[in-house]
Parts: sequence; structure tokens; C-alpha cells
Amino acid sequence: MNFKTVFVVFLFMKLHGCNIVLPMINDLIEHFNKTQIILAYLCDKNDAFQVVSHFSKKLYQVNVLSPNSRDMPYPTPPAFLTYVLDAGCSNTKQLLLLASEQKQFATPFKWIVYYNNPVELSFFIDEYFTKTNILVDSDVTLATINPTSGTFDLNKIYKRKINGSIIIENIGIWGRGLGVTDTGYEKITYKRRRNLTKTVLKSCIVITNNDSLNHLTDKRDIHIDSIAKVNYVLVQHLSDTINASLEYSVRGTWGYKDNKSQWSGMIGELTRNEADIGGTALFLTSDRIRVIDYIAMTTPTRSKFIFRQPKLSYVANVFTLPFDASVWASVCGLLVIIAGLLYVVVRWEWKKKDYVQVVNESNITEIHNSWLDVVFITFGALCQQGSSSVPFSIPGRITLIFLLVSLMFLYTSYSANIVALLQSSSSSIQTLQDILNSRLDVGVDNTVFNHFYFPNATEPIRRAIYQQKVAPPGQKPKFYPIEEGIRKMRQGLFAFHVETGPGYKFVSEIFREDEKCGLQEIQYLQVPDPWLAIQKNSSYKKMLKVGLRLLQENGIQEREVGLIYTKKPQCLARGSSFISVGLVDCYPAAVVLAGGIGAALAVLILEIYVHQRIQYYTRRRRR
Ligand SMILES: *[C@@H]1O[C@H](CO)[C@@H](O)[C@H](O)[C@H]1NC(C)=O
Ligand SMILES: *[C@@H]1O[C@H](CO)[C@@H](O)[C@H](O)[C@H]1NC(C)=O
Ligand SMILES: *[C@@H]1O[C@H](CO)[C@@H](O)[C@H](O)[C@H]1NC(C)=O
Repeated sequence: MNFKTVFVVFLFMKLHGCNIVLPMINDLIEHFNKTQIILAYLCDKNDAFQVVSHFSKKLYQVNVLSPNSRDMPYPTPPAFLTYVLDAGCSNTKQLLLLASEQKQFATPFKWIVYYNNPVELSFFIDEYFTKTNILVDSDVTLATINPTSGTFDLNKIYKRKINGSIIIENIGIWGRGLGVTDTGYEKITYKRRRNLTKTVLKSCIVITNNDSLNHLTDKRDIHIDSIAKVNYVLVQHLSDTINASLEYSVRGTWGYKDNKSQWSGMIGELTRNEADIGGTALFLTSDRIRVIDYIAMTTPTRSKFIFRQPKLSYVANVFTLPFDASVWASVCGLLVIIAGLLYVVVRWEWKKKDYVQVVNESNITEIHNSWLDVVFITFGALCQQGSSSVPFSIPGRITLIFLLVSLMFLYTSYSANIVALLQSSSSSIQTLQDILNSRLDVGVDNTVFNHFYFPNATEPIRRAIYQQKVAPPGQKPKFYPIEEGIRKMRQGLFAFHVETGPGYKFVSEIFREDEKCGLQEIQYLQVPDPWLAIQKNSSYKKMLKVGLRLLQENGIQEREVGLIYTKKPQCLARGSSFISVGLVDCYPAAVVLAGGIGAALAVLILEIYVHQRIQYYTRRRRR
């Protein structure tokens, strides 16, 4: 069959109403699935009529538009929308350029471009698509008629980068009555196009210390620019998942808005399309969401107050803690009952006068018939001092033995409890409010964002912490370098606000094993973990997102984060070391002792005074 006869056959098909456009569009739309809205740019009135009536009957929303239009409006949301374009119309090239300009080849738009005149595919593509930006996230299907068989060849086209060369994916053929016969291609677009064959992506990283550039991968000085170091490695892994190569630029800040609403730093590069990937994760804030796309949380790191919980004896009276209030009440009740019994027995002994007289001659340790004696014996037993005198009768002795034995058991459990309590730390400080009300000193790591967030805190408690604890009026604000802060924290009664990863690195280096116990953290900043961001509406978004999920799923992310961020050290040596007890720990006991001494002295002075007065009066009376 030569070209002429083919053309004649073709013309014959066309002229005899043997329309193949409608069934082809129908089959393609059903093959690709997930279409609800069809925007058809057609010039053939007959085709247009058939398309509208056919798809309306099938409950699609159909619009036929003229390819001559200067604007390409579409209903929102644009999901489930498919464009159908007859490339044979006169104004097609301008329309394709317009669509490219308005980014209508990106997801979620789908395109079916057909051309039902015999044409060489490569020529057709060169002619129509060289200047368009049909990027990796596009879904553009070309249907070109194959003159020999009367079928349509189906191809998808895309470019790996702007102004790159066009890549053609053959996905099958369509034949009348046969429908779509596909080549078994991978249906998921980003999977099919995942190999970017070393296309260059630009990544911008944020470094606050120039020396970090020498240690991006060697895990040295991991407390400096930790977040840049973790994400640098992760972005490298990410580029491997899509076989891209990376070019880097370095900035000193993440970026903030200046007064002309221009963004500086890394965000500036992303908004000006100078970088594709923001290579260092950053905080998610509402004004940034408008200009960049966040794709994944890579570095779970937060800044928190870290401090050693104060010893229990600092915040509570450990001498009352061993027993519950009800136990204390029971102990008192027991003492009262036994003392009462003892008193009854003693009185009964003294009533039996003759019996007592016998023993009284030989024994001076007999309890006297007075309640004061009984109280003293009970008190002596309570203090584990034994008793100097004993009742003589059997019932009295049984009562006394009962008193001594029960108090011995109580004393044993009490003192065992005290020893444990003196070594334990309290859990009294759990919230920011507790920090504010406690005796803890507060310091803050000397970083850019702390200098920003602390003075700008608006919430009342956070504000009060800054004003009363961090920067009290008339004093230098307490911003310390990280190592100094951790050393202060080691001495106790000091809470340091620091990024936990680097903070714990110093803790594990500086602290003794037993000092790592009882570390407490409290969050101050109200920001989520930092996320990795890319250019807004990037065509690589899906690929990069999936790539990062992959890194997360197979554990690479956790490994890299674990290598840089030190976890909270485990408490392994609690109680195995010697703990010295200071005056603070025995404070209540010391108070009781001092009170006793004071009272004794007062009584002594009173006695001397009274004695002097009496002598004075007797002398006067004698005169
Ligand atoms: C990545 O791209 C390069 C360059 O095209 C190619 O040689 C290599 O095989 C690709 N790697 C993979 C894993 O596909
Ligand atoms: C880092 O280097 C750049 C240029 O090399 C310089 O402008 C900048 O001041 C340096 N920053 C620091 C913190 O040393
Ligand atoms: C805007 O920024 C420029 C420098 O970039 C500064 O000189 C000017 O004072 C700023 N204007 C306002 C209103 O802040």
C-alpha cells in the first residue's frame, strides 16, 4: 500500500461519517479512569457535537471550547479534569504554549492530544511541543493515527527539566473495536519516571558556621549545624532514589521577609527558583507555607528546657513522707491506746498495796503511779531508747513488750524509707508554670532562633519566664554557650533551654553516670519539628515526597538522625553511688533540734530571771 492509497482510504473513512475520534476519546478516558470533567478544545463541529452529547449522557461534565481562546479557565478544584485537544485545529500551537505558561501541564491536569492526519511522530512532537514545559509530573497522551493500520499510536511525553529534551513513552495502540491495547507500562507516573538519569537538581543548605562545610559528612562537631548535617546526607540519599545529581549553594540563614516582601536566605532562593530543594529542614510557619512546599519531617528535634530534677528533700519534708497520713494517725492511736492501758495497769498495781510493798523494797525501777511516768516510758519506746523502769505485774510487762516490739517494726520500716527518699529526685517540676514558681535558675542556649523566640513570646507564662528568669530587669540576659549551660545544669537547680540532640551530647560527655538520672525536659517553644521544603509547585514534588517516605520506611533516616542527634541518656546507675546528705536534706530535723535548743535556752533564762526576782524580794523583805 503506498501513501496515496492510504490517504484515499483515510479520506473515505472520514467522508463517510465513519468517525473514529469519539470512540477513541471515550476509550482513552475510560482507560485512564478518574475523570469527571472534560474540557475539549475542538474545531470540528461534528466532533464537538458528538463529544458533548455522548459524554453528557454518561454523566461527565463536558465543555467544548474554541482553540482560539486567549485564556484557559478551568473549574476548581482541578482534580479529575482532562483536557482533550484536536491538534489539527489552526491555533493549537499558541494554545499549548499558553497552557505551558499557565502551568496547566502539571498535576493534576491530564491531557489527550490527538491528530488524525497521517504524520511522522517525531516531526509532530518537534513541531508542537519543543517549547512547552511538560515536566515529570505531567500526564500528556498523544494519539497519532497510523495510516497503514488505521489505528492510533498512543505515547506519553515529558521533559526531565525545563528546556530539556522530550522523552517519549510508548503506552500502546488504540484500534476501532479493539479499544486500548497497552504495552504493560507502569501506570503510576512518578514510578515510571523515577530515573532522572542524573538530571541536576539544585539544593540550598543553611550553614551558620563556615567550618561546618568541612564536616558535612564526617560526623565531627555534630553539635554545630546538626540540622544541616543530617539533612545534607538525607538529601543525598534522596537524590539517589530518583537518580538525580545535586548542585549546592550555601546560605547563612533560613530566610525571613524583608520590608518589600522579598525573602532572604534559603527561602529566597526557593522563591526565585534558584534552588529546587531546600537542603536544610526549617520550621513550619504560616507565612512560609504560602511561598514554599513542605514535603516531609526529617529531623525530629526540639529545643526544650533540660534540668536535673531537684532532690526530693529540696521540695518536701522527707521526714513525714515515709508513712501515709492514715498510717501516722494509726501510729498515734496505737501509742495513745497502749499508754492508756499501761496507765490502767500501773494504777491497778498500786492499788494492790501489799503486793507492791513487797516488791518496792527490793526494786527501785518500779513505775510510779503517775501518768507522767507512763508518757515518758512510751516516748522512750517511740525513740527506741528502751525504758528505765518496768511494771512488776505480768499484764503490765506484756503491755510494755507489745509496745516495744510494735515500735521496733515501725522504726525499721521508717528508717529504710528515709534512706530511699533521701536518694530520690522529686518529680515536682512538670510544667512551665512549675519552673516559673520554683527556685530553679534558667538559662538559654545562645542561638539565633532563641534570641528571636524568647523576647517575642506573648503567652503570659512564657513571657513571665523570660522577664523574671531569663532576663530579669537590670541584669544581663542569661544566654549561654551550650557547654557552659550544661555545666551549670550539672551543678543543679538550673534549667537550660537547648536543642535536645546537642544538649544530650554534652550531657553524656560531662555528667557522671549517676548524674544522668532524674533529667527532666519541658518544652517552651510552640513550634513543630522542622520539615524539609522545596520550591512551590515543583514538578518533582511527588517523587521527592515518595523518596523521603522510602528513606523513612527503610530506616536510613533514623540511622542518620541517630548518628547526629544524641538521645536522652539512660539512667543506668541509680543508687549505685554514694550520696552525701547535707544540712538541706535534714532541714526539718535540724529545725526541730534548733527549736528545742532555743526553747531550752529560753527556759533557762526565764529560770535565772525568776530566781533573781525571788532573791531580790526575799532580800527586800529581810531589810
Ligand atoms: C542513573 O542515570 C545514569 C545516567 O543516565 C545511568 O547510567 C544509571 O544507570 C542510572 N542509575 C540507575 C540506578 O538507574
Ligand atoms: C563565612 O564565609 C563567608 C565568605 O566566605 C563570609 O562572608 C562570612 O562572614 C563567613 N561567616 C563566618 C561566620 O565566619
Ligand atoms: C526597608 O529596608 C531598607 C533596607 O533594605 C531600609 O533602608 C528601609 O529603612 C526599610 N524600610 C522600612 C519601612 O522598614
